[in-house]
Amino acid sequence: KQRVLSGIQPSGKLTLGNYIGAMKNFVALQHEHECFFMVVDLHAITVPQEPAALREQSEAVAALFVAAGLDPAQASIFMQSHVPEHAELGWLLTTMTYMGELERMTQFKDKSEGKDAVGAGLLVYPSLMAADILLYNANLVPVGDDQKQHLELTRDLAGRFNYRYGETFVIPEPFIPKVGARIMSLEDGTKKMSKSSPNAGSFITLLDTPDEIRKKISRAKTDLGREIVYDVQNKPEVSNLMTIFAQCSGQTIEQVQAAYDGLGYGAFKKDLAEVVVQSLEPLQSKYEDIRASGEIHRILAEGAERASAVAEVTLRSAKDAMGFLPRKR
Ligand code: TYM
Repeated sequence: KQRVLSGIQPSGKLTLGNYIGAMKNFVALQHEHECFFMVVDLHAITVPQEPAALREQSEAVAALFVAAGLDPAQASIFMQSHVPEHAELGWLLTTMTYMGELERMTQFKDKSEGKDAVGAGLLVYPSLMAADILLYNANLVPVGDDQKQHLELTRDLAGRFNYRYGETFVIPEPFIPKVGARIMSLEDGTKKMSKSSPNAGSFITLLDTPDEIRKKISRAKTDLGREIVYDVQNKPEVSNLMTIFAQCSGQTIEQVQAAYDGLGYGAFKKDLAEVVVQSLEPLQSKYEDIRASGEIHRILAEGAERASAVAEVTLRSAKDAMGFLPRKR
């Protein structure tokens, strides 16, 4: 069985972008592979988080994993901070990462741009992400397009470690969907839809009410002209809405385009809103049940147990390979 690992930050409410780009694939991969999915709270603190909000969001993201269809019996669902090996291997890999590599990361450039106080964690974040993946010797890492560069660095670090210290880590492959790997903002078709955007009209969260979803979609920016055609270069906004339509309805882009041939934006957006509302409805009702039951704590405890069993072994072999004196008990 191939091993799959991925993570989502509890840094805000999860968006349709997180769902289409990543979570949907978590669910699809769980039956064929040995899966580990985590809430990466250690990553979230690379920008300041209010403690009560971090706690709430962490539990919410874990519950959304299950609500989206992850089966805790199939996939291990856990909090990154519950498995301290992440932080430890993260440090070991930080010492092997070059400043130049970190400074080249576009996510670092975007998040640090124009700020005068930038936490060092924001810079070394990709080394921690590499540790997340390599600890489990994951073969496949389902992510959206924006994580491709971090995955490249992870592969480089794994290769560098193996070259210096002997075969220790599996070199992971990204698993990036052909359609939906980069869902764009509803207000600007050239910017990524982001949960940390200050502008709530730019994204749809998985827990938005039907009315909020209808309102956001009806206000979504559309390109000039009135044809529903998929053309990312010239019609980024309409193309993005068509991608969302296709992903939420299970159709291809071609089918969506054919269905709206000759119709205007108004009719299309109205139907799109209903498609999104309907696709989120089962997830939302399951989410409410899970939160009310409190069972997420047991799921996370079991997930951390299974994750630790793997992470401890990998960390030990990495430390042995590097020459750390073993602790005798
Ligand atoms: P994060 O929390 O920003 O996003 C979680 C996942 O959602 C994907 N995603 C999108 N996909 C399509 N369109 C969008 N607009 C969109 N926005 C986000 C992301 O690509 C990601 O797959 N560094 C990671 C978290 C992480 C991780 C890991 C991932 C930490 N350790 C180990 C995989 C393996 C991040 O910040 O994702």
